[in-house]
Amino acid sequence: MSPFSSEAAWLCLAVTAALGGLVLCKLNKSPGPVGKKVACLGGLWGGACLLSLPLFWALILFSLSCVLLYIHLSGQELLPVDQKAVLITGGDTGIGHALSKYLDQLGFTVFAGVLNENGSGAEELRRTCSKRFSVLQLDVTNSQQIKEAYSKVVQKVQNRGLWAVVNNAGILGLPTDGELIPMAHYKRCMDVNFFGAVEVTKAFLPLLRKSKGRLVNISSIGGVVPLLKMAAYGSSKAALAMFSAVMRQELSKWEVKVSTIHPGGFKTNIVGTSELQDKLEKDILDHLTPDVQEDYGQEYILAQKKFFNLINYQSSDLSPVLQDIRHAISAKSPFTFYTPGPGAYLWFCLVSFSPTGIFDYFNKKIHSFHNGMLRICTVPHWKN
Ligand SMILES: NC(=O)c1ccc[n+]([C@@H]2O[C@H](COP(=O)([O-])OP(=O)(O)OC[C@H]3O[C@@H](n4cnc5c(N)ncnc54)[C@H](OP(=O)(O)O)[C@@H]3O)[C@@H](O)[C@H]2O)c1
Ligand SMILES: *[C@@H]1O[C@H](CO)[C@@H](O)[C@H](O)[C@H]1NC(C)=O
Ligand SMILES: *[C@@H]1O[C@H](CO)[C@@H](O)[C@H](O)[C@H]1NC(C)=O
Repeated sequence: MSPFSSEAAWLCLAVTAALGGLVLCKLNKSPGPVGKKVACLGGLWGGACLLSLPLFWALILFSLSCVLLYIHLSGQELLPVDQKAVLITGGDTGIGHALSKYLDQLGFTVFAGVLNENGSGAEELRRTCSKRFSVLQLDVTNSQQIKEAYSKVVQKVQNRGLWAVVNNAGILGLPTDGELIPMAHYKRCMDVNFFGAVEVTKAFLPLLRKSKGRLVNISSIGGVVPLLKMAAYGSSKAALAMFSAVMRQELSKWEVKVSTIHPGGFKTNIVGTSELQDKLEKDILDHLTPDVQEDYGQEYILAQKKFFNLINYQSSDLSPVLQDIRHAISAKSPFTFYTPGPGAYLWFCLVSFSPTGIFDYFNKKIHSFHNGMLRICTVPHWKN
């Protein structure tokens, strides 16, 4: 006999339908890729339950998943924009530049910090953005400029406060073996990617505390996953990620929410101009000891610059990273981590859940695949 009467079945169905409908309504109000993935999962689960369980239990389970999904999606809802003020560093090019325009279009009051207020990136922002928009001269390694930017922001927002700071400015350096990277490059990466973000954050935190706002750091998948040739860049981004994780907990008492974005694989200006690349290469050659030079060999060292070409194979559609940053700024309950970009999440899982042996094996395989693609001589001199 069926475990429940037909009235109960109808009631169950009605409740299920009502909950399902409610979830769908919520889903409409909270766009973004993550919400959709979760909804799909919920749907699949519900479907699977319906197929393999007795109807009664299937409906109970389905209703339960709807309730959980509803709670989850409520946190995903975006707060009203309301001309909220946002500071973004590194607005000259790339993600910071695109983000400045995107948030401006959405109706935020954007302050774009730029490395060069007279550069073409800054010019374009001034030309294309709304009247709310301001460009600020802000080299994140220059304390004086941070102070000046702070005064300008305070003056402009008055008592409306600053809602969010996005630490985006960053440099890559020349990707090559950690042994070959000059100390000056390690220090420069730390200065911009880590100390710069720390100093900007410290300067603007009083404003964020007042608004109970958001702090968003753009780290990198290279700050979580030990990618080959990224010793300097990856370490500085790892430092930023750790700092963020500590601050996330410390700032919760002020109701400031913090998120870290770990993008991977977007085509931007991060590789710099060819003059900059030549300079980095020259630095490396100038700082080699005879031993190292001998063991690696000129040919190997001169081939390293080709790694920049990898960026040409990456995605130039920045919208996944922009949407994630928007979510971190606007959602009622933003996530702690975001991993936009093709394969970024896979890398994240691989390094988090696989034994180092397996991870190293895959990493090496992928790396030699890249070497093949770029036709790089992979073997240092002494092995020839
Ligand atoms: N592209 C990716 O796939 C990827 C992956 C992981 C993480 N990220 C991170 O995403 C962030 C944005 O990078 P992006 O890819 O958009 O590269 P990008 O185009 O080079 O943007 C970085 C911006 O920061 C600026 N900058 C450099 N040094 C600065 C300083 N001292 N003070 C202020 N601004 C400074 C750069 O100015 P100039 O152009 O004038 O040098 C540039 O506008 C970086 O933190 C990067 O590490 C990117
Ligand atoms: C931009 O130009 C102005 C006026 O020519 C100058 O005072 C300022 O120092 C320049 N800024 C930078 C970062 O070069
Ligand atoms: C971002 O990094 C700064 C400095 O590294 C830190 O103070 C802050 O808490 C971090 N915020 C987030 C959201 O990760």
